[in-house]
Amino acid sequence: MTTFTKLAEGKQAKISVYPTHKLSKINDNIYGGFTEHMGRCIYGGIYDPENSNKALVDEHGFRKDVIEAMKELNVPVVRYPGGNFVATYHWLDGIGPHEQRPRRPELAWLGVESNQFGTDEFMKWCKVVGTEPYLCLNFGTGTLDEALGWLEYCNSTQDTHYANLRRKNGREQPYDVKYWALGNKCWGPWQVEQMTKEDYAKRAYQWAKALKLLDPSITLILCGETGHSIWDSYVLKECVKLDQHSLGGSTTASLVDMHSIHIYTTSDDPTKNAFAPRSAERAIEICASLIDMARIENNVPPSVPRQTICFDEWNVWDPKRAPGDKGAEELYTLSDALAVAIWLNVFVRQSKHVAMANIAQSVNVISPLMTTKDGLVKQTTWWPLLLFSKHMRGWTVATHVSCSTYEGETSPPWMRGAVDTPWLDVSATVNDDGWTSMVVVNSHLTESFAVDLEGVANGEKSIDVSTITADKWDIVNTAEKEMVGIKESSCKGDGKFEFPNMSITMLRWRI
Ligand code: AHR
Repeated sequence: MTTFTKLAEGKQAKISVYPTHKLSKINDNIYGGFTEHMGRCIYGGIYDPENSNKALVDEHGFRKDVIEAMKELNVPVVRYPGGNFVATYHWLDGIGPHEQRPRRPELAWLGVESNQFGTDEFMKWCKVVGTEPYLCLNFGTGTLDEALGWLEYCNSTQDTHYANLRRKNGREQPYDVKYWALGNKCWGPWQVEQMTKEDYAKRAYQWAKALKLLDPSITLILCGETGHSIWDSYVLKECVKLDQHSLGGSTTASLVDMHSIHIYTTSDDPTKNAFAPRSAERAIEICASLIDMARIENNVPPSVPRQTICFDEWNVWDPKRAPGDKGAEELYTLSDALAVAIWLNVFVRQSKHVAMANIAQSVNVISPLMTTKDGLVKQTTWWPLLLFSKHMRGWTVATHVSCSTYEGETSPPWMRGAVDTPWLDVSATVNDDGWTSMVVVNSHLTESFAVDLEGVANGEKSIDVSTITADKWDIVNTAEKEMVGIKESSCKGDGKFEFPNMSITMLRWRI
């Protein structure tokens, strides 16, 4: 958590970090990914067997450079297969001999799905990458029978039909998929089989009961909206309750373990764009209160672990600029990188509530990582993601910032009345090896802020400094030129440190 004192413009900014004041453990899963059958994310992204440059592809048809990038990011969990795509997806189409897999019309992005990449390919890819799979169930055209079949196929050790089908397809051991989502964006008017909140809550609860009867070890994720909507409030109230159905009447089990929310931020104005993720911070706070409200109203005892937030789609995305049915290939600017750094500051500050977050998406589709025929482009937004994933793990620590604020309009507009927008957006962590890391995002287009390091890392002889900046907010990285990257340097913990305009700075020191 970061507390804040607003100063008048021109007053000396100050930051205080308290590394011994650990607030909450950061779940590594906040650095999760998401791969959807959409645009070039799967085909041409993680799976590219037809690529004429054979050196880029491994024996499974996976892109080797993408695998290396995922490993570099140390992505702990990846959501699959959608997104909107999942509302008409039948998992049985994507298993077994490739030549027998049906080609189907795809109704989310209006393409054709070849089904050449399916469950077994995804599980193999996760193993190669060293990440954990997270599957989303079809709440559109899918049935509970199908969902149970998929869970059995993935997790069962019994001598039963779908477990045996998995064995027949070459996999003896279960995949032990822990995370399962009860649909995606079921409230959306564009969704095949859009639901009312009443219909969804009833269905989600009944599906959850059956799924947990088949495998009580799984983590079930409820489909929320933005975290600050009537839908969120209603479905939480209806589904966060004691599992009345477990044999013997459990007092420790809940059918639903996490609540999923999605937000994409954007603005044509670079400052509004950078600050927009602060709205997600308020959404998280509101959603956490709705979770508590549901528990209070339903008399859920403290023996049932508190439900956490699964922010399983987040990013900067303007669908007008990069439409979904055209592959949503965003070209990210420095302003977008500042926004992504503020997004990540939000997840670190809110680690008490957010137990998973998945950048949408991992490759090519609104992604920091783009494949070309010959290699990879790391967009501006790749660099803050890498910095955070490498170093901002462990514990969130108490931090206080005093500085002036951005006073202009915000995107979304409601944010102006609900949250402050300090020019210096800060989070700090301490890890088990005793490293303290602090990220400061200065979104001011022209002004740098000098801060006395006395309250930050007083007297430290050596502080590692990583800086991401450039001289124009609309600068982008392309295959020809990487304009934005990380610059490493060092400083001492006495005197002042200047946080440049339009920059992301990480300071790291060991206590
Ligand atoms: O991530 C892209 C799309 O955005 C997903 O399919 C959908 O869930 C969201 O609207």
